[in-house]
Amino acid sequence: MDFFIDTADLDEIRKAKDYGILDGVTTNPSLIAKTGKPFKKVIAEIATLVPGDVSAEVLSLDLDGILREGRELAKIAGNIVIKVPLIAEGIKAVKIFSGEGIKTNVTLCFSSMQALLAAKAGATYISPFVGRLDDISHDGMELIQEIVTIYQNYDYSTKVLAASIRHPIHLKTAALMGADVATIPFKVFDMLVKHPLTDKGLEQFIEDSKKFHWD
Ligand code: G3P
Repeated sequence: MDFFIDTADLDEIRKAKDYGILDGVTTNPSLIAKTGKPFKKVIAEIATLVPGDVSAEVLSLDLDGILREGRELAKIAGNIVIKVPLIAEGIKAVKIFSGEGIKTNVTLCFSSMQALLAAKAGATYISPFVGRLDDISHDGMELIQEIVTIYQNYDYSTKVLAASIRHPIHLKTAALMGADVATIPFKVFDMLVKHPLTDKGLEQFIEDSKKFHWD
């Protein structure tokens, strides 16, 4: 499973990268806004810092605008993936980007039929938002399972990127279901390594290690 970090904060990206297991970064307009810096500058900095795929989201909703912005963002670095919203114009744009060799991440996916359209258009990634479905009392993880099954049934190469992850159980369930990628907020990333029994066991080992010498 690939691990992406869902942030535009360079400090968070550096800290996650230090683990040595970070495969990429996803951003969205809300995350970019939090940095207070110009969009293209932030994306260029992230793409230099992380060699893996870095998703940058278009802002236009019409086909010409999506294509113009996507092509402009794709020129920033070779690892930029164009994030496109799951609307009719977005699907049309993904098909065109796919023909041009531009990688895409289709975002704001809330149904398996939307995900099927994205795969048929040649999307590189599909981003089902699990947390936001949970927020309205739908089972976000059920959507991941449906998409994984449908993509397997027809051998689509589009990668399932579990997004809007709010806690480690979302990640665990996505991994059990076979999602290809998870994009994880730094707060959740930081939780993954922690277990109270690890701390307790370590405390005992350190105490006992005082009873003998190394050589
Ligand atoms: O980047 C897309 C997604 O992960 C957003 O998550 O927590 O704003 O629903 P959230």
